[in-house]
Amino acid sequence: MILIIDFGSQYNQLIARRVREHHVYCQIEPPSISIDAIKKLNPEGIILSGGPASIYSKGSPRVDRGIFSLDIPVLGICYGLQYMVDSLGGKVIGSKKREYGFAELLVQKQKGIFSGVGKKTQCWMSHGDSIGKLPAGFVVTASTENTTVAAAEDARRNFYGLQFHPEVVHTQAGKKMLANFLFDVCHCKKSWSMKSFVARIVEEIRKQVGEGKVILGLSGGVDSSVAAVLLHRAIGKNLTCVFVDNGVLRQGEAARVIEMFKKHLQINLRFTRAGKQFLSKLKGVTDPERKRKIIGRTFIEVFDKEARKIWNVKFLAQGTLYPDLIESRSAFGGPSAVIKSHHNVGGLPKKMNLQLVEPLKHLFKDEVRLLGKELGLADDVVWRQPFPGPGLAIRIIGEVTAKRLDVLRKADAILLEEIRANKLYYKLWQSFAVLLPLKSVGIMGDQRTYENILAIRAVTSDDAMTADWAPLPHDILARISNRIINEVRGVNRVVYDISSKPPSTIEWE
Ligand code: XMP
Repeated sequence: MILIIDFGSQYNQLIARRVREHHVYCQIEPPSISIDAIKKLNPEGIILSGGPASIYSKGSPRVDRGIFSLDIPVLGICYGLQYMVDSLGGKVIGSKKREYGFAELLVQKQKGIFSGVGKKTQCWMSHGDSIGKLPAGFVVTASTENTTVAAAEDARRNFYGLQFHPEVVHTQAGKKMLANFLFDVCHCKKSWSMKSFVARIVEEIRKQVGEGKVILGLSGGVDSSVAAVLLHRAIGKNLTCVFVDNGVLRQGEAARVIEMFKKHLQINLRFTRAGKQFLSKLKGVTDPERKRKIIGRTFIEVFDKEARKIWNVKFLAQGTLYPDLIESRSAFGGPSAVIKSHHNVGGLPKKMNLQLVEPLKHLFKDEVRLLGKELGLADDVVWRQPFPGPGLAIRIIGEVTAKRLDVLRKADAILLEEIRANKLYYKLWQSFAVLLPLKSVGIMGDQRTYENILAIRAVTSDDAMTADWAPLPHDILARISNRIINEVRGVNRVVYDISSKPPSTIEWE
């Protein structure tokens, strides 16, 4: 396996993906990882990622320098190269000017990392600082017009560095360079596949929990569903899933989850209907953050109570993915602004004094989907559109009441029915309805109406970090609007949300 040290570059996911595309397993860890932990992982090679910091700036991320004495090959990319140079006695020079974009790479030594790469090849640069003086033992292996040390190596110690990004597609021979590092330098074997991952992770789960009982909060979404099936495969009846109906689920959602997990997959499932409890706490609340906090807290209460009914539970499993981990423990301590407090059972472990099992924590969303498929889950689960923890409560602007929930549920069900019927469901990242706290005048038959306005939101996205509003065909929008206004009592006007993220967010609250 390859260990990737995460210095915070936006391209880290790509490094991991590229390595896994070569069928080599890799794991991303924050710079705080200890030498002992690294030794336990026993990697064939270490990749130091890029990152936004300047090596000499205060608080710049650093990993234990002991990694350079482990006799393990190291590849430093961008900031990773600068970190390596600085750690081994060379010098990095600061610059206020960034070099960003395409550059022509002139390869001086077509060996090692550049074996089989042309003398001239296009690379992708994104850096401010550059290398002033290389440490003893290093030689320059490639340059560009602006950067003398675009690549360097100390082949005797198996240390390699690239100032540019081999992981992005704009670096023409990037794939080849990474393959050279993996196979020629680190002597990795092509043994990683989803199938081998399942075997490996099942083994790890068994080792961690032994005969212990595990509880898992099931939301019906991709991550917790895949985690549940994986754990079930590893420990069978020692897994109990808890599904809380918080009263703000979509139409038919609870029934779907029960049908699938209990009947179809035959997983131990406890179902609690706690809608009343949630709704009474939400009474009179209109502030979005308060809604989120109330739902988060109530969920913990209900879940905790349910868990106590199961005898001798020692572990709490969660479908945390690698990006969730990074978001919550921000590798470099700099807390980013809270735009929305997400409710992902974050407060549970502390309160419940259980050990965490997080079998998906090294994966990215698309890999979880592949894993779900490998485990035999239906497309409907694997490709399910995301649904937020606070559910319909944050899609009802203003107060959440049983009556307004009913209106939104019906409208949302029609919208989804049409989206599916027109084969758009899997093309969209999300599609949903939002009930506004506004009324407008309309006419129905010969009568004046004064009813709610409903908004429709449909977006495309790769990762929810950014999203574009989807240009749905007009005839489909017309049909959705007609059906909602005709079939849902309480709505007499439908509008379409044409805002992208940023500056808007996907959910309205
Ligand atoms: P925003 O609205 O911030 O949403 O653009 C980004 C993505 O996150 C989902 N979302 C949530 N998911 N708990 C979740 O599990 C939450 O509290 C939550 N809030 C938003 C949202 O649906 C979108 O996919």
